[in-house]
Amino acid sequence: MLKDGKYTKDDAAKLIIDGKTYELPIIIGSENERAIDITKLRSTTGHITYDPGFGNTGACASNITFVDGEKGILRYRGYPIEALAEQGTFIETAYLLIFGELPTRAQRQQFRDYLSEQELLHEDLRHHFNGFPSNGHPMAILSAVINSLGCYHPDLLEINTEDEFLRAAAKIISKVRTIAAWAFRKAQGLPIVYPDPNLSYCRNFLHMMHSIPYKPFEPTDAQVRALTLFFLLHADHEQNCSCSTVRMVQSTEANMFASVSAGICALWGRLHGGANAGVLQMLEEIHEGESSISEYIEKVKNKECRLMGFGHRIYKSFDPRAKILRQAAHDMLESTGYEDPLLDIALELAEVALNDEYFIERKLYPNVDFYSGIILRALGIPVNMFPVMFAIGRMPGWIAHWNEANTDGVTKIHRPRQIYTGNSPRDYVPVDMRLED
Ligand code: ACO
Repeated sequence: MLKDGKYTKDDAAKLIIDGKTYELPIIIGSENERAIDITKLRSTTGHITYDPGFGNTGACASNITFVDGEKGILRYRGYPIEALAEQGTFIETAYLLIFGELPTRAQRQQFRDYLSEQELLHEDLRHHFNGFPSNGHPMAILSAVINSLGCYHPDLLEINTEDEFLRAAAKIISKVRTIAAWAFRKAQGLPIVYPDPNLSYCRNFLHMMHSIPYKPFEPTDAQVRALTLFFLLHADHEQNCSCSTVRMVQSTEANMFASVSAGICALWGRLHGGANAGVLQMLEEIHEGESSISEYIEKVKNKECRLMGFGHRIYKSFDPRAKILRQAAHDMLESTGYEDPLLDIALELAEVALNDEYFIERKLYPNVDFYSGIILRALGIPVNMFPVMFAIGRMPGWIAHWNEANTDGVTKIHRPRQIYTGNSPRDYVPVDMRLED
């Protein structure tokens, strides 16, 4: 079924409806995950599946990222996240996700050169920033400006060659950082700082965020390392809501700029990319004495609110990204001497929750967002920029998925079905005959 033959068919599953038996093929992935192939279900049985939230639905086959939520495993293209975090860089990881292999020295240099060439924005595009209100949310600005890149690079609205793909990918990975920093500067009323091609990806971003004329910002190595880890650990997470959105938009054959811009919009919500801002708000509430830790936990258990940064649709033992970021948060605060009472509250809150039956029973553990907000705060990133930071990190994953769907030869336009629960047919009533309340 797949052109690279990455999965095989095993024995069929049997489905009995109204006494009639139907055979449904079983598909087995390269890590032995199993799926029942229902692609012919409706045409043969007249039934569809019902799965709100898609928790049991495989929307595609993919060879980019593997997650085993029960065992806490995350791998990009087969490489464990722990190894990439320890030895890799964000740009190398981006290359791996997008092109499938770790780059050679020469490929890595070529990709870096491409990114440096692409880091500026068209001067006309710079003027777009003047049109946004200064209190405009940076996620709205980011998605709008990324989408409008399509106006400035019309030659890349259709991608047919590897070179076009490389150019489009490099443009987006490079420019998203410039756009994000400029959105921040605009909101702060600060002059725009142009990118410096001599700086690495993360240093350059911090330079555009925090340098002021004649006073360049010079981050410590620990700060750069924490930011690198933040981006790298967010770079992909298979078929989450924003990735699925990118693939859904791509399935209409929409261009890469429009598709990843839709991914940014999907990421914005509080239950996805907005969660680390929610974590910080929660920690601040506790810090300011609005609730104690035990009172907050009680509120969560009474379902008045959720414990932000806890729980995950997939991870049911631990989130491997959270483990790495917890350490990174510690290391960075220690090396910069920055003391953050919110980290102490976070550690205590996690300790209480991890020993409470409510969370144990539901397999709720700290997710990547539980510690990332503390890192971002220590890097001087305001809360409304948190989802923007996530979007910069996630861009390589979205691009890899866009390309996979664009080239796999099996992706069809996404068009789920529904079970209709509305009115049966009824007669139209003219307005003067309708009953008033
Ligand atoms: N705090 C308290 N209770 C929770 C939490 C939480 N954070 N998460 C889930 N639960 C409870 C639910 O109330 C439910 O309890 P019930 O069985 O008594 O009704 C049970 O656990 C299952 O919850 P679901 O909502 O069905 O779990 P789902 O897999 O759909 O949700 C999600 C996953 C959205 C991440 C959820 O755990 C949540 O809202 N977490 C807080 C927000 C957050 O941190 N999001 C970031 C996710 S990671 C990312 O996007 C990078």
